[in-house]
Amino acid sequence: MALMFGLPLILSPQSASFLGSVEARGGWYPNGLMGGNSSQQFPRHIRNSTTRKPCCVSQKAANPKASPWLPYEKAEVIKSLEDWFENNIITLLKPVEQAWQPHDFLPNPASDGFYEQVKELRERVQELPDEYFVVLVGDLITEEALPTYATMVNSAEGIRDITTSSSEPWARWTRGWTAEENRHGDLLNKYLFLSGRVDMKYVEKTIHYLIRSGADSMSKNDAYRGIVYTSFQERATHISHANTARLAKQHGDTKLAQICGTISADEKRHEVAYVMMMSKLFEVDPNYSILSFADMMRMRISMPGQFMYDGHDENLFTHFSAVAQRLGVYTTKDYADIVEHLVDKWKIEKLTGLSSEASEAQDFLCQLAPKIRKLDERAQARGRYRHGDVPVLFPFKWIFSREVKLW
Ligand SMILES: [Fe+2]
Ligand SMILES: [Fe+2]
Repeated sequence: MALMFGLPLILSPQSASFLGSVEARGGWYPNGLMGGNSSQQFPRHIRNSTTRKPCCVSQKAANPKASPWLPYEKAEVIKSLEDWFENNIITLLKPVEQAWQPHDFLPNPASDGFYEQVKELRERVQELPDEYFVVLVGDLITEEALPTYATMVNSAEGIRDITTSSSEPWARWTRGWTAEENRHGDLLNKYLFLSGRVDMKYVEKTIHYLIRSGADSMSKNDAYRGIVYTSFQERATHISHANTARLAKQHGDTKLAQICGTISADEKRHEVAYVMMMSKLFEVDPNYSILSFADMMRMRISMPGQFMYDGHDENLFTHFSAVAQRLGVYTTKDYADIVEHLVDKWKIEKLTGLSSEASEAQDFLCQLAPKIRKLDERAQARGRYRHGDVPVLFPFKWIFSREVKLW
């Protein structure tokens, strides 16, 4: 998991309503540029307080029809799938002995050639522009908040790891998934550290802040909704890392391209697992599954890095998202494509025998991706993604306050 955006449905940083208006936060856009739930936007009080928690705020914005907890009988449905899970999902984890490790992609500090390898790395990254590092750092920071995501999954009724060493398949999957994910932030962090292109103190502070702030998936401890969320996010991160790989290659750093591509492949495998889990739930419990899917989409998928903060920029996630959107690393179009992909994968259009509420959800979901695209096109046509034709530059602390074009 890692993060992320679309064209900015906002005006400009100079605008008094920047991120402040309901309009700026509305629309079918991933968080940051693409709006999101108003309660999810940069809660300063959450960052600065040890008494208030994000969930207390976010619950207000959730669909009031949605249950705050997974009903007991739904936990039983999940329990009944243990054998299937053991045979179909656990097998998607890579055995540790066959898995790559960050060390495989980095200069070897125990070798005589270490200093030469570091020198080569630093020469390679010289061709990469600052804006690329803004996006890569944003991706890294989102990966590094893994403790939050592990907690998130372990808070979900029906799949939680009760003893933190449980032998139940759901628990073993979560630990295996976390262990695989742990390498992503580790590898990117070490590569960026050696590159000398980013201000590591600010990168580390942002990670510290983000883990303190947490994230709210809006899944409300419900495993069905949680699996919808992770299905979406794994695909989003797969796309994002694939695009940073593509750009690294374009700028001549083939090693970094290989790193991002390898991480992207992990995300794809995780996506396959979560999508399969949800497909199984659709098979055995279509009504609650489709209501869960629709509920998550109505609330819009919040991005795990949404609360990122470097100690200076109150709108850091939005600014990072703007650059990611402009570079084509993760866009509104990607968001719509993911919705369409999941609707297709879970055969939403073909589900029959649904309750009336579930049929309503089916209509909503089938129309969602085209609706997002239409809104995006309309917003672009109206020039709502920028404030005039003058490029807006922003100084990012992550890259020693050098300015990067937002839009
Ligand atoms: Fe992942
Ligand atoms: Fe990841």
